[in-house]
Amino acid sequence: MLVAGARPNFMKVAPILFELRRGGHACQLVHTGQHYDTLMSDAFFVDLGLPEPDYHLGVGSGTHAQQTALVMSAFEPVLIKERPEWLIVVGDVNSTLACALVASKLRVELGCRIAHVEAGLRSNDWRMPEEVNRVLTDRLSDLLLTPSRDAHENLAREGIDPARVCFVGNVMIDMLFARLEAARARDLAGRLELHRGGYVVTTLHRPSNVDDPGALRGILEALARVAETMPVVFPIHPRTRKNAEAFGLLSELAALRTLEPLGYVDMLSLTDGAAVCLTDSGGLQEETTVLGVPCVTLREHTERPSTIEFGTNRLAPWPLTREGVLRAFECAREQGRVDIGSRVPEGWDGKAAVRIRHTLEDRGAFRP
Ligand code: UD1
Repeated sequence: MLVAGARPNFMKVAPILFELRRGGHACQLVHTGQHYDTLMSDAFFVDLGLPEPDYHLGVGSGTHAQQTALVMSAFEPVLIKERPEWLIVVGDVNSTLACALVASKLRVELGCRIAHVEAGLRSNDWRMPEEVNRVLTDRLSDLLLTPSRDAHENLAREGIDPARVCFVGNVMIDMLFARLEAARARDLAGRLELHRGGYVVTTLHRPSNVDDPGALRGILEALARVAETMPVVFPIHPRTRKNAEAFGLLSELAALRTLEPLGYVDMLSLTDGAAVCLTDSGGLQEETTVLGVPCVTLREHTERPSTIEFGTNRLAPWPLTREGVLRAFECAREQGRVDIGSRVPEGWDGKAAVRIRHTLEDRGAFRP
């Protein structure tokens, strides 16, 4: 049984679901409904070719406690009814932890094992809800499937038995390679009357950047400065739009080319054509790495240091200031697109889902 809850989960579960079914394994998909509107959820099912979920829990938004609790109470009867051999959770959203927690409480009764895909990433910043979700989900999981080698050091430091940990690579990149041709054919930049390599793409949604009026104002002002040199295209997350309205910051958005949240193929198309990406998203730091697009991460830390070591990503100086962001942007622009050729980080090769299937099979995962 595979669980998806929020936007960044869909492109990770899709390749795993396809690969498990291709291998002849019965596999059910549960959508918790943490993200629920057309643009944040349904559009991804279409773009990724995902089937209708077997279960839709419809939990929607709420405080962290409400959302986590709602997922737990709605998921428990599903798990008890279906009794899967493995529960596969991905990433670091509230749905990830909530479902892992349900399965771990029923471990003795149901004997369902938990596999966590994207295990071992750490920002070491406990103020981030995602960090809490990552650390606790890893603690609860029987099998920790990692996207990069740094994850193994993090898990070893936390005393996790290496026998539970297995390197499989980055499954999100499987989806990127599967849709890259379609994304290039879509040419979203051209349709927005922009030139390939002639614009910046930006996204923001981290609570630390968008929930505080001063922080959000500072970043929007910095982006407005960047927009004096190059058009800045900004598909806005619902949380960010809501907050910009509530904080009276709509005029700060005027200098930017704002769009509604984009579907998967459109976003890939836009990112692939960008000169530079300015973002606080985890997924975009990885996607720009494989695309060779220089990225400036608008955060104090990253749980994806391999993207910095690889050379495409850099952290903007912290705390974020207009000058700091502008300087980091200029460095990235001077660096220009990186021709990575066939040089990709280890395991970011489009074959992670196959390795996940083999790992589950090797561990005697499936009933005959
Ligand atoms: C969640 C994840 C984050 C992930 C991000 C990607 C957690 C703790 N956070 O943050 O790790 O990177 O998703 O998008 O799980 N909203 C809509 N429509 C939707 C979904 C949300 O309007 O389809 C609104 C909600 O009403 C809420 C806000 O957006 O006010 C934030 O949604 P929420 O699910 O709390 O978390 P994200 O900020 O999206």
